[in-house]
Amino acid sequence: MDKLIITGGTPLKGEVTISGAKNAAIAILPATLLIKGVCTIENLPNISDVKISCKILEELGAKIEWLDTNTIRIDTTNITSTHAPLDLTRKFRASYYLIGSLLGRSKSVEVGLPGGCNLGPRPIDQHIKGFEALGAKVEVAQGKIQAKAKKLIGNSIYLDVVSVGATINVMLSAVLAEGTTTIDNAAKEPHVVDVANFLNTMGADIRGAGTDVIKINGVKELHGNATYSVVPDQIEAGTFMLAAVASRGDITIKNCITKHLECVTAKILEIGAHVEDIDGDTIRVWCNKRPNKATIKTAPYPGFPTDLQPQIGVVLSTAKGTSIINESIWDSRFQYTAELNKMGANITATGKSAVFEGVDELSAAPVYSTDLRAGAALIIAGIMARGKTEVYNLQHIDRGYENIENKFRNLGAKIERVSE
Ligand code: EPU
Repeated sequence: MDKLIITGGTPLKGEVTISGAKNAAIAILPATLLIKGVCTIENLPNISDVKISCKILEELGAKIEWLDTNTIRIDTTNITSTHAPLDLTRKFRASYYLIGSLLGRSKSVEVGLPGGCNLGPRPIDQHIKGFEALGAKVEVAQGKIQAKAKKLIGNSIYLDVVSVGATINVMLSAVLAEGTTTIDNAAKEPHVVDVANFLNTMGADIRGAGTDVIKINGVKELHGNATYSVVPDQIEAGTFMLAAVASRGDITIKNCITKHLECVTAKILEIGAHVEDIDGDTIRVWCNKRPNKATIKTAPYPGFPTDLQPQIGVVLSTAKGTSIINESIWDSRFQYTAELNKMGANITATGKSAVFEGVDELSAAPVYSTDLRAGAALIIAGIMARGKTEVYNLQHIDRGYENIENKFRNLGAKIERVSE
């Protein structure tokens, strides 16, 4: 088992380059199943969720060639199975995108019930509602999901909750359906737009991605023969922005889309730190004093992302005064607060709200990442804290951050990975 040992107290300084977005990449990879041909995908983050996605695609018959650590050429001309390996699909969340993709391509699919971070209940009823509206029969039993259709016919689907997964999955299943599908109350996250852009590059006809109404005009086939570069990771960029504030540092973040970071920028300015949007792709964040308190409410894009809630929680743990965070997406996203309290924070989490009484400083302790973003938050806490922090359960962090300790080390953090 690996752990990170972090000697805290160094303000982070320098430049960091953001990788491709995890939550776009792990949807674009299964989306390649809708193509009968070859395409090249660049700027894939080198993370374990991407590696598992590629392994699943290979087991289904896709041929994948790695051109470099972040680029693949994938040939999905011959897919030999519609049964995705249950053990692998249960390992991560985005395996649910195989349902939309294989339904679209083959009208039949079997996958294991998706796993992923434990953030409380993660229903997929809205995905299923969408597949059924297009004409599929879906069964969930014995830890598996099976879906079949004679044919898929476009329809209007209103999502009862704004769901990234359901929006993308319905889009995937509708691309090759007959006629037009409309998704109302669609999610607007940058990764939803990126998946639509990928599919359109390959010949799909999707309009309105990035708004709450997406219209998909079914096409007969996708052509492949194109290269697509995954959008920069909004959440990774936000993680480094908040790390700059937390460590009272000065970081220039390259290869990000500053427009996607407006909600984080607004909060960073509100708590008294500084942000400079250099050219739309580069942002500088610095902080030279203890931040002020704030109130945060997570919300679907363009609101404050739930996936940055633990990271801003770390910042607020040493802010001046009492801060409040209301988590509106996940029931169990405050598990990290118990770990931060071990480091001297004073946080009371009750249900989907938490009260942060700002303390002067954090002190080192052994802590356990309970999920991906909690893990990133604990690394930031270790960088801020006095003494040597040990962070365990790195498998969560490795699922979603490429080279995280190297990126922090290049910014001056004293951080090393040790195998026990
Ligand atoms: N929901 C339903 N029914 C559904 C689908 C969702 O009730 O059929 C509810 C969920 O319970 C939740 C809300 O709708 O309360 C939003 O869920 P969403 O479907 O948007 O979440 P997801 O697709 O499962 C993705 C990201 C998460 C991120 C959320 C919200 C992936 C693989 N995961 O999850 O990312 O928190 O959107 O933005 O894209 C992470 O990267 O650390 C992570 C957890």
